[in-house]
Amino acid sequence: MAVVIDGKEAAASVIAAVTEATAFLERETGVKPGLAVVIVGNDPASHAYVNSKSKMAKQCGFNSIQHSLAEETTQEELEELVAGLNADPAVHGILVQLPLPKHLKAEPVILSISPEKDVDGLHVVNAGKIATGDLETGLISCTPAGAMLLVHRIHGRDLSGLNAVVIGRSNLFGKPMGLLLLAANATVTMAHSKTKDLASVCRNADILVAAVGRPQMVKADWVKPGATVIDVGINRVPAPDKGEGKTRLVGDVSYADAADIAGAITPVPGGVGPMTIAMLMANTVVAAYRTAGKTAPRF
Ligand code: GUN
Repeated sequence: MAVVIDGKEAAASVIAAVTEATAFLERETGVKPGLAVVIVGNDPASHAYVNSKSKMAKQCGFNSIQHSLAEETTQEELEELVAGLNADPAVHGILVQLPLPKHLKAEPVILSISPEKDVDGLHVVNAGKIATGDLETGLISCTPAGAMLLVHRIHGRDLSGLNAVVIGRSNLFGKPMGLLLLAANATVTMAHSKTKDLASVCRNADILVAAVGRPQMVKADWVKPGATVIDVGINRVPAPDKGEGKTRLVGDVSYADAADIAGAITPVPGGVGPMTIAMLMANTVVAAYRTAGKTAPRF
């Protein structure tokens, strides 16, 4: 049976460090980290995510600002709001929740955020810094940063000699995750929907990272015995055993079977999920330290 990687506990220790760093910064400089979260439209799942981000920001001692915009918001209105937040010295981090309603283009909005305030790490300047191996001066996308923290807990800082396979190539997760593994000296394969014989590619992985958004797609016989399995999927599926109309969350990995083969595995929920919000808080306090001219803490 694999070691179950406790994301809730890892996230709580990041949050404790962020809270302490926030108090120190305010004491030393009077600067209170400010996080502005922007949501457009009425998607209930997105509202739930955003509310938990705003709540956690308050818990860390930040100035937490939430902008909830109507579904009909125009591209110009959204970019004007971002421009105002860019210019506001009390705001150190800006997050525009994705996906946006269909009539809005995400890319120009992301590019309109000041890279220094892009706590999502999605601006091309921040993506480019990871791609060129600069992990020090930019902001790293929260879910891959959180997944890496879990990988480092199992394998230490240096992944030399280990094969890592990332399934999924999104800008939000797969690409930065592959680059972070590479920067830590892993030998990285980026697999995706067009990969030939995905199962045998995965069987080569000492570190297998699944981010495909397909419930329980990764089967136990895709897992190399003893491998570390990081499941980034959060899929809601019907759970008739819990009662009519009930659902449950499952990952992209067939957890119960894979846990018999893996050396370490993240559960869903309670694995990578809690790390995303924790790393968002970490990025915000880092951005505030930089603005105040102080050396930022590391997480
Ligand atoms: N929607 C789902 N995950 C994320 C995230 O990490 N950042 C943003 N901005 N939107 C999301």
